[in-house]
Amino acid sequence: MSAVNAVISRKAVRHNFKRIKSIVKTSRVISVLKANAYGHGVLEMARILVDSDAFGVARLEEALELRNADFTTPILLMEGFFNTADIEVLIEHDIQTVIHSLEQVSQLEAFAKAHSTLTANLKVWLKIDTGMNRLGIAPSQLDEALARINTLGFVDSKINFMTHFSCADDLDNCFTSEQMSQFYTLVEPHDGELTLANSAGIIAWPDSHADWVRPGLLLYGCSPMLNRIGEQDDFIAAMTLSTSVIAIKPLAKGENVGYGAHWKTERDTQLAVIAIGYGDGYPRHAKAGTPVLINGNRYPIVGRVSMDMVTVDLGNEHQVSCGDPVIMWGPQLPVEEIAQWSDTICYELILQLTSRVDIKFVE
Ligand SMILES: Cc1ncc(COP(=O)(O)O)c(C=O)c1O
Repeated sequence: MSAVNAVISRKAVRHNFKRIKSIVKTSRVISVLKANAYGHGVLEMARILVDSDAFGVARLEEALELRNADFTTPILLMEGFFNTADIEVLIEHDIQTVIHSLEQVSQLEAFAKAHSTLTANLKVWLKIDTGMNRLGIAPSQLDEALARINTLGFVDSKINFMTHFSCADDLDNCFTSEQMSQFYTLVEPHDGELTLANSAGIIAWPDSHADWVRPGLLLYGCSPMLNRIGEQDDFIAAMTLSTSVIAIKPLAKGENVGYGAHWKTERDTQLAVIAIGYGDGYPRHAKAGTPVLINGNRYPIVGRVSMDMVTVDLGNEHQVSCGDPVIMWGPQLPVEEIAQWSDTICYELILQLTSRVDIKFVE
């Protein structure tokens, strides 16, 4: 048993998946399992989410991990392949791919030339850049991309279309509407199935649901929306991160705490030292005041987060003892709140836990 534990509730994940289905109704669901299922453990998450219509990953090695574990669910490589040699692997393992640039179309053509007798049916999703300006072909390249892909015998002739939102977490930002309307206008003359929505699209932009949605964060029970938590939209945080109290010490008014003498007691008090730090992936930038939960009560972190320890101000009226469990985040202490205290996003927190943390699944 390690000092720091991340317990993942299968029941919560199942609930979140059902909740997504109930919101999107008829749209099919690509469960996004990239980055080790946002730090939760990809194979176990794939088992729980085996009813997904597809799995979404960023990297070829993530897709292969699923295939090597015998998952037969369709897999979409959302970042696309990186070189011509990858195309053979995609075909061999029946992995669908995003095409986001004309350079990739050229790589497909080169592959076709080198394998002229190949009879495959590579499924392709053409990603159109509607303003995120990251991956995606420019709208002006759409006709050329389609015409060139359509001449390739080993590519499925039914091409699907995709775009990605840059501001969907912000309900007041009309750029999402602009992205949607540009995308729908561009694909209108064509036949393929459509996908636009990430988690924020699912919650906040019903017009984006289309044929397929691509939830990541919501599966894990967290909210992608600014200043909201998953619970407000009936999602349940799947992960509870916890440690324990390893020391309690009295301090007089005016004493320094931690590296850099960053924090000073304003009254006589008692301090709990807890066994977690940035060596476990807890954010070093968590500010003084960031809450932890001990025996159902919130206490503030004080002083700097160190590699293996965090100090917590208990005051003088507490019932805390050495060995008591401490919850760093979970359903009762939203990770979205900890992210705010740490000037980051909950995505980063849940997936930056280190190998020192024991991840365990419970029913
Ligand atoms: C292309 C694409 N689709 C869907 C997602 C899932 O996003 P979210 O976790 O916000 O649902 C991501 C994640 O970054 C992504 O890159």
